[in-house]
Parts: sequence; structure tokens; C-alpha cells
Amino acid sequence: MIFFFIILLQCLSLATAQQPYVGTSTTDCSVTDNSTSVFGYSCNGLNRTCLTYVIFRSTPPFSTVTSISSLFSVDPSLLSSLNNAATTFSTDQQVIIPLTCSCSGNYSQSNLTYTIRQGDSYFRVANDTLQGLSTCQALERQNNASSQSLFPGMRILVPLRCACPTAKQVSEDGVNYLASYTVVFGDTVDVISQRFGVETSKTLEANQMSFDDAGVFPFTTLLVPLQNPPSNLNSMTPPPPPPSPPPPPVSPNGKKQKRTWVYVLVGILGGALVLSLIGAAMFCMLKKVSRKKQEPDNLDSFTAKKTSNSYQESDFDPLDGLSGMVVDTLKVYKFHELQSATSDFTSSSSMGGSGYIGKINGDGAMIKKMEGNASQEINLLSKLNHFNIIRLSGFCFHEGDWYLVYEHASNGTLSDWIYAKSSLLSLTQRLQIALDIATGLNYLHNFADPPYVHRDLTSGNIFLDSEFRGKICNLGLARSTERDGDYVLTKHVEGTRGYLAPEYLEHGLVSTKLDVYAFGVVVLEIVTGKEASELKKEIDGGNDLEEFLVGGSFLPEGLVSFVVRLVMDCLKRDHLNRPSMDEIVLSLSKILTASKSWESSC
Ligand SMILES: *[C@@H]1O[C@H](CO)[C@@H](O)[C@H](O)[C@H]1NC(C)=O
Ligand SMILES: *[C@@H]1O[C@H](CO)[C@@H](O)[C@H](O)[C@H]1NC(C)=O
Ligand SMILES: *[C@@H]1O[C@H](CO)[C@@H](O)[C@H](O)[C@H]1NC(C)=O
Ligand SMILES: *[C@@H]1O[C@H](CO)[C@@H](O)[C@H](O)[C@H]1NC(C)=O
Ligand SMILES: *[C@@H]1O[C@H](CO)[C@@H](O)[C@H](O)[C@H]1NC(C)=O
Ligand SMILES: *[C@@H]1O[C@H](CO)[C@@H](O)[C@H](O)[C@H]1NC(C)=O
Repeated sequence: MIFFFIILLQCLSLATAQQPYVGTSTTDCSVTDNSTSVFGYSCNGLNRTCLTYVIFRSTPPFSTVTSISSLFSVDPSLLSSLNNAATTFSTDQQVIIPLTCSCSGNYSQSNLTYTIRQGDSYFRVANDTLQGLSTCQALERQNNASSQSLFPGMRILVPLRCACPTAKQVSEDGVNYLASYTVVFGDTVDVISQRFGVETSKTLEANQMSFDDAGVFPFTTLLVPLQNPPSNLNSMTPPPPPPSPPPPPVSPNGKKQKRTWVYVLVGILGGALVLSLIGAAMFCMLKKVSRKKQEPDNLDSFTAKKTSNSYQESDFDPLDGLSGMVVDTLKVYKFHELQSATSDFTSSSSMGGSGYIGKINGDGAMIKKMEGNASQEINLLSKLNHFNIIRLSGFCFHEGDWYLVYEHASNGTLSDWIYAKSSLLSLTQRLQIALDIATGLNYLHNFADPPYVHRDLTSGNIFLDSEFRGKICNLGLARSTERDGDYVLTKHVEGTRGYLAPEYLEHGLVSTKLDVYAFGVVVLEIVTGKEASELKKEIDGGNDLEEFLVGGSFLPEGLVSFVVRLVMDCLKRDHLNRPSMDEIVLSLSKILTASKSWESSC
């Protein structure tokens, strides 16, 4: 039955061979309905590569020839001559941008590299910055990072929506270009077609729309079939209408409505099919991910941050005390400030151990008292900037003790929630916390410069903020793997029992895979609500972890096998067989997405 409809779907798409309009599905990033073009226009052109034009509206900060040409990586002189513009555009002016469109897998697209700015999500990049020339769905699909793990300075691949004319458009209508037009408020297909001197029916056909169903929405793209390159639209006189064949004598109602009906049916059945395929797809993806070899570290995407930082890495030696830059970026507190913040370190402000909660200038803060040398942690934290790593705001040195002042994570440690209040966390919250930890570790391993291994990841070293988002703390044992290559041998095994990987305990071998092992233990704690020391017996005892997890976790049946697989991979005895943190981030984002839809369905 389902098979029959797949065939039907394929026949339909062959018969029309145009591109479905994306409609309102761009406003909800979780919509992945493939009957609209949310992931991009399909690669069905006569040529696999073609010249195309996209229409963009000048909006500050993208309102000059230089800013727009650098956003789209096009030649500024070409842009200015094509648009009759010297240096600047007035706001909301239409700018024609010439690009090359080509096939990438099943989608035709024009690749762009975009540098993430403060506050960007995939949706904001696609909708606000690119005005619908890309979609959050396509961005999510073609980038490894999840939308939550984007950080300023990171570079992402942006597939711009474009398409090449089909054989039918070329031969029957003489079409040479399909312009990707960005719809604005007040536009209709009629108005847009007239502005380009194109017959409305051809535009409708190119977008698989009908006269009955011709609604267009701002911040989406509409394909406009053109015979000639578009010229400066702002002072354009429409070219003489092409010698048009008489308007098609279709009675749009009967036939079109019947077709809509079939689409609805196919849509419903397709939806059911997609749901049932998600499970299988996730399984395959997880398998593929765990088989992939670890890529060499790519520090490229970190250059933006590095250059904004005048800090000289080569001068840095953690043993030489604090680096000069630390004193510039961190606040040096006076002891009496901390005394008044914590009511003189009374027990009412104690968090247990040597941690205190206080208020400094009205803002909550966590203060940790340390004996010995804190310069390692201070130097490291002053260089890191990531949502999932606790932020150090300053420090104080008083009578031989260090006091480190951190951002306030108001929900305390993860271990408190796991051991005492476990049932209060929802499934999605748990998986989000796991993803947060993985994202923070991935940053430490792959994007910090030089890369670091945390070495003491435990559920007690994860703090939760007011929204239950995870923040990694206590980087006092973290160490750089750069100077000595990927692996470091140490004689001095430190860390927390229950979380230590076998190669570290036995040989003192330090690598990022040490954190991967500890992460596996933390995820086990998160999904079972049991302490690491208790879990250690299960792990070491060679008991069937899978059976244990299936029986003893909070996971719904559909998700348990993915999580089991992830945990088992992280806990592999041979560190070389454990996945890397970027692979883990990828798998967990998928598991989290599945869990969200599972939770919203019950
Ligand atoms: C665009 O990016 C995709 C994904 O990385 C890649 O497969 C494709 O080859 C790229 N296309 C071009 C023309 O570079
Ligand atoms: C492209 O589409 C075909 C058929 O729909 C599918 O079998 C194939 O896996 C797709 N390829 C990619 C890269 O998505
Ligand atoms: C989505 O549809 C296009 C063409 O309609 C097809 O080539 C592609 O493989 C589909 N992708 C998925 C994930 O089903
Ligand atoms: C899309 O971007 C525009 C322009 O910045 C903005 O006005 C609009 O609210 C955005 N749409 C949504 C759904 O946020
Ligand atoms: C995603 O990760 C894989 C392997 O880790 C890598 O080969 C690929 O280039 C990455 N893609 C992007 C867009 O970063
Ligand atoms: C397709 O490719 C041929 C040969 O390169 C070229 O002459 C033709 O103009 C192209 N057609 C389109 C519509 O891009």
C-alpha cells in the first residue's frame, strides 16, 4: 500500500518536474515534510550547474555594495554594475545577486560560508539575515552543529535556495534562468510576475502552484522563470511580453482540485511513512557515525575569536602564574567584597564543600575557595567562551587562598538532581543536559586553542542554570594536549573514582577519549538515576549493560536502543574505538529531536 503511494508520488513529481513552493513550513524548524521544498529545491534541471540570480533586500548592516558582496561572496564590481549602484543601496531596495547554482546530492543549491554572529540561530540566519533564501531545516541538515551549539565566530555552510530550469522549461518556454525571488509583504504571484515581465501561469507552474492556491508568504522564495537576465528592478521597464501561446485552456478547478486531493492523501500517508522511517534512519545514522574515523581538529572556525583576542598563546605557561591578559579581562575582587556578598562566608550561603553563593552588585555569583595553585584554572577559563562552560567573572587572592567567582547556575549540581530529585527531570531535560555537556566538551576538545582534556568530568562538576541547561565546571585538572601531541602520559593519576577510563588508570594515558569515557558514565547516571560508584559494578562486572539499561532507565522503548548504543560506544575498553565528541554531539542532537517529538506526542 505504502509502496504504491511512493510510486504514485514519483510519477507525480516526474509528470510535473517543477519545484514545490515552500509555503509556511519555513516558520517551524521541526517541519521536515518533503512534499514542500524545505530542504531545498530538488536537482531536476536540464543542467546540473547553471547561472542563477537571487533577489535580496538591502537592510542594515547589509546595505552597501561591499557588505552584500561579502555576505554572498560575489565580485563587488559585478554587483554594482548589475544593480546600477555606486556604493550604497537605500533600505529595502531590491538587489540582484548573480550566483552559480549546482547540485549537491538531491538538492540544487549555491553554497555560502557564513560566520555566526551573537544571538544567531539557524532560524535567524535563514529568516532574518537571508530573508528566506535558506531555511533552518536545510541549515540543520547540512551542518554538524545543532542550532543551540552555535557560537559567535563559528563558520557554517549555508545552502542558498536556487534551481536550474528543467528540460521542459528550456524547450517549451525558452527559460534560461530561474531567479530565486524573496517574497515581501503585499506581494502576489501576479504582481511579482508582472514586475519581471513573466506570465503568471508560468510562475505558478514553476512553483507547483495553481490559481486557486497561489498564496505567497514573506521570507520565502518564489522561483521566477526568466528568458533574459533580470536588470535593475528598481528602474525597470518591463521587457516586451514574450510571444505567448494562448492561455492554457485548462479548467483549473476540476483537474487542479482533484490533484490537490491526491496531494493531501499522499501527504497523510507520506507523514506516516516518514514517522516510521525516522526510527530506521536514526539507527543507520548512529551506526554510520560510530564507524566514522575521527577527523583532524579543525581550528579554522575559531580564527574569528582568536583574532579578536590580542592574547599571545606562545607566551603562555600555566606554571608561570597568571598571564597578563587574565588581569585585563577578569575582575580582581577585594576580599571584603566577597565577604559582604556571602555574609562573611556563613553557612547560610554555603553550597557545601568550599563553594558559596552570593550576590555581587545585585547579580548572583558562585564563589569557590581554593587552596594551592588556582592559576591553571583561572588562565584556562579566562580564554574560554562557551555557553556550556561555566564563566569565570573574576577572582581574589587573600591570605594564601584563592577565591574564584563564577556566573551563578541557580539549579546547583547535576549530581544533586540525579541522586536526590531524579524523578523531577523530564526526559527532554535529561537529554538536553547530556547534549550540553557533549557540546561543551566538544568545544574544549576541538575548538579551544590549544585543545584541552577536562580529565575530571563527573556529574558533580556539571552545574545547571535556571533553565536546566548544563555548564561544565572545575577545570582545575584540565590539560592541554597540544604540546605533546594527541596523547600525554602522566604518572600522576588524578580524577574521580567511577569515571576514570581503563587506559588512564592502567597507563596514565591522557587523551580526549578520557573525557568520552567519563561522559558515558555521566549519561548512564542521567538515564538511570544511579551513582557512578554503583554503576561501576555493572560496567566492570561484565553484566549486560543493555539489559540493565532497558530495565533501569527512564527511557521510552523507542529511544532506549540509541542511548544504549551511545553509552556502550563511549565506554569501550579500547579508547581508539570510542567515538569523538563531535560525533556524540551529532547523535545526541538527533536523539533529542526524537525525544521532543515523542514527548509532545504523549
Ligand atoms: C556545497 O556543499 C555541499 C555540502 O558540503 C557539497 O556536497 C557540495 O559539493 C558543495 N557544492 C559546491 C558547488 O561546492
Ligand atoms: C536522492 O534521492 C534518491 C531517491 O529519492 C534516494 O535513493 C537517495 O538516497 C537520495 N540521495 C541523497 C544523497 O539524499
Ligand atoms: C526529498 O524529495 C526529493 C525530491 O522530491 C528527493 O530527491 C529526496 O531524496 C527526498 N529526501 C528525503 C530525505 O526523503
Ligand atoms: C523573519 O525575519 C523578519 C525580518 O527580520 C522578522 O520581521 C520576522 O519577524 C521573522 N519571522 C519570524 C517568524 O520570526
Ligand atoms: C561534518 O562532520 C564530518 C565528519 O566529522 C566532516 O567530514 C564534514 O565535513 C562535516 N561537515 C560540515 C558541514 O562541517
Ligand atoms: C546547459 O548547458 C549548455 C552547455 O553547457 C549551455 O549551452 C546551456 O546554455 C545550458 N542551459 C541552461 C538553461 O543553463
